[in-house]
Amino acid sequence: MNTTTTLTPPTEPPFVLPAAPRLPAAQAERLVADWERGAALVESDLPAYLRSAYQLDITGQYAGRSTHSPVGKASGQLSLNRRQVETDAAAGLGFVVLKTVIAQDEGGEQAMAAWTTPETHMTIEPLAGRHVARLGWNVTWKGRGWSEPFASYLELVQAAIQVGNDAGMVIAPSCKYHLPGPDEAGYRTGEYRYTTRELAAAWRAAGAAGPLILEKDFSPTLAGSDLAGQRAQTLDWLRVVPQLVKKALPDPAGVTVGMKVMNTLFDDDFQVAMLRELAVALPPQRADYITYANRLFDPRRRIGDTVGAAYGGPDLSHRNLTVLDAARKQARAEGWLDAMPELSGTGDVSSGRIAVEYGLRGATSVQCHTLFQLPTVYYGPPAAGRPGSKSAKALHLLYFHPVEGLVPWLLHMRHHAGLRATDGLTHWRDLATVRASPE
Ligand SMILES: Cc1cc2nc3c(=O)[nH]c(=O)nc-3n(C[C@H](O)[C@H](O)[C@H](O)COP(=O)(O)O)c2cc1C
Repeated sequence: MNTTTTLTPPTEPPFVLPAAPRLPAAQAERLVADWERGAALVESDLPAYLRSAYQLDITGQYAGRSTHSPVGKASGQLSLNRRQVETDAAAGLGFVVLKTVIAQDEGGEQAMAAWTTPETHMTIEPLAGRHVARLGWNVTWKGRGWSEPFASYLELVQAAIQVGNDAGMVIAPSCKYHLPGPDEAGYRTGEYRYTTRELAAAWRAAGAAGPLILEKDFSPTLAGSDLAGQRAQTLDWLRVVPQLVKKALPDPAGVTVGMKVMNTLFDDDFQVAMLRELAVALPPQRADYITYANRLFDPRRRIGDTVGAAYGGPDLSHRNLTVLDAARKQARAEGWLDAMPELSGTGDVSSGRIAVEYGLRGATSVQCHTLFQLPTVYYGPPAAGRPGSKSAKALHLLYFHPVEGLVPWLLHMRHHAGLRATDGLTHWRDLATVRASPE
């Protein structure tokens, strides 16, 4: 069966999964029936259903928290109001990373003020890979970070946490703090202090459990700016930022810091160097988790009168998985693989297949943005014309597509890579333990 979103399954390296999952006939039939049931299926108690029907445990981990699904929403235009978060909770997402806010100091000064551009218009278009023979999707968009007052972001954080608490869905604010260029004197610590403290206060006021979770967005700070040539500077940011965020609070343990690494214009070796920097760091410089990796940047790509734009699609997962492979190889050789912080995969997670590819490289969760924006008809015949939010339709596609879904691929791993624990279940979280490529 052809998928609606993929013309050719990605089977060439770095992808390790074969063209189609091989399942026992009874499971394949059940899967087709569940595919036909449509998006309402994911809005039920899906984790319980997957346990009983398929012996699958889809518990994920994000920012040190256990999540009922490994699939979350990546930061962006689809997580900037309460209604979106409610829809995601109803669809059964494991976690939501809120739109990135731009840090400010007590006086309201923002070094990264240029990132607060208000821009809502997004275009979603098919995009062919240049490095992989596959057709995917790309969102073109000119905007950047949160453009409303900081106070309204704090309100969003609180509202989202209340929704998340009721649904058992983890919420993470995202922030872009000041990063000095080579000619600047240092980090504007006032921004770090004020913004982190305010976010932590909103977190507590909303009754969120445990430390504040904070994803630090780097992208595409460097890629589009004249700072792009500064490798040493970038590594310095990766070293210094986690510490500055933690030191902003009276108790550094009051915040779980995630570093969302960007795709730079540098080569893959530099991407590995960034991951290495994060892995070998010791407290207090150490980040708690990594989100890898934000979109690619094409300096020649045009959007209206702007030259240079971020893009995703098949080349994004291709590059991210290539780099993660290279990082794991180098980490094994140099002895820092076990020191890698928790990993959340982002970038063209357009199918369960791609989610499993990230999982095999250590991701305990995945984050999607583009998948939630497809024209409805592309969520497949069982979704078209039926009720259900885009979030639910996207998740149904991601889990149950008979060839590209997470369910068939976890089952494939169970039958062909020995992914079955002593409790008889196949756990998403165990994917990282599969060393060799599955048959
Ligand atoms: C329209 C749009 C807005 C985005 N805004 C943000 C943002 O504010 N902060 C951030 O960290 N990432 C942002 N991203 C990146 C996404 O969070 C995600 O990491 C990236 O798009 C890769 O995932 P995807 O291939 O599923 O889209 C944005 C992406 C898109 C398409």
